[in-house]
Amino acid sequence: MERLRVGVLGCASIARRKMLPALTACPRTRVTAVASRSGERAKEFAAEFGTVPVAGYQELLDRPDVDAVYLPLPAGLRAEWILRALEAGKHVLAEKPLTTRPALAREAVELSRRRGLLLMENFMFLHHSAHRRVRELVGAGRIGEPRSFSAEFTIPALPADDIRHRPELGGGALLDLGAYPVRAAQLFCGPDLAVAGAVLHHDPGTGVDVAGAALLASAGMTATLSFGMAHHYRCRYALTGSEGTLTLDRAFTPPPDHRPLLRLERPEGTEELPLRADDQFANVVDVFARTALAGRGFDGPGDRILRQADLLERVRLAATPAPTAG
Ligand SMILES: NC(=O)c1ccc[n+]([C@@H]2O[C@H](COP(=O)([O-])OP(=O)(O)OC[C@H]3O[C@@H](n4cnc5c(N)ncnc54)[C@H](OP(=O)(O)O)[C@@H]3O)[C@@H](O)[C@H]2O)c1
Repeated sequence: MERLRVGVLGCASIARRKMLPALTACPRTRVTAVASRSGERAKEFAAEFGTVPVAGYQELLDRPDVDAVYLPLPAGLRAEWILRALEAGKHVLAEKPLTTRPALAREAVELSRRRGLLLMENFMFLHHSAHRRVRELVGAGRIGEPRSFSAEFTIPALPADDIRHRPELGGGALLDLGAYPVRAAQLFCGPDLAVAGAVLHHDPGTGVDVAGAALLASAGMTATLSFGMAHHYRCRYALTGSEGTLTLDRAFTPPPDHRPLLRLERPEGTEELPLRADDQFANVVDVFARTALAGRGFDGPGDRILRQADLLERVRLAATPAPTAG
């Protein structure tokens, strides 16, 4: 089988925990190199995943044995390196959100189109079969007419030096966590969502938003979303219709062995529907590699990237700064 030769730009935690294992296991990809700003760190990663260490990101992009890159750099650095990777003729799978502003996302999408390269945003949850099952049940009328969607993604406080606390690296809860409920709202309420209101709580010390909420609306539906990084862990969504509610826990980051439990509440009672375990990390790598190797189907991801960037920006612009505690 032909394999896509992938290089990894940045020895990030998400690369070590999820994406490098998936890229290494996929029969359609071969990890040819990993790059870090530090030669030592690249060596550690390369030894762990049986690949070649490279000191410096541009050095990796200059390699002829790399067809595509996986890019888990902080959000504020991604636009520059996505553009450089595309200029070097590489397909790109970049972490979410693709960039920090719609204009940067547009520049990246347009360059990928001009160069005939695949550019994908790594929203892995979209590649888990649980959401397809939710849509099937909705399509089969099990909750009646869909009326409202709610989603939460909140995590406990992070160490002070985490990239998410650094404004110059594109930190903040809206981009890092809010991006998931916003993307899920588009999946279940349709792409034409208006922003009716939003709130962002900023940390007065770092200046980044640490929590927030948004109220979105599409024809006949509302979406209430919340996100934060100083909270009890919550990762769920619920879809309420005229006749029932579907609720899914661990909606955005289920591990491969997790069997999701979908709850269906209807007037006559509540049913628990166990779903099959699915590996969204393996699935996203497979879709990326298949599409890049096929050499077509590159337009769809670009349109979705632009809609997501635009909606996140409208949430940001609509946000009322919330009063600080104390
Ligand atoms: N899709 C998902 O499910 C998912 C899950 C978790 C995270 N993410 C996303 O992935 C990205 C990375 O998250 P993470 O938790 O893996 O972060 P992380 O461990 O801090 O990794 C970020 C990497 O960026 C590189 N980097 C380059 N310049 C940097 C700078 N000035 N400061 C810090 N790091 C710099 C570093 O690699 P070198 O030192 O090797 O150069 C570092 O390892 C985030 O944008 C996050 O939103 C996505």
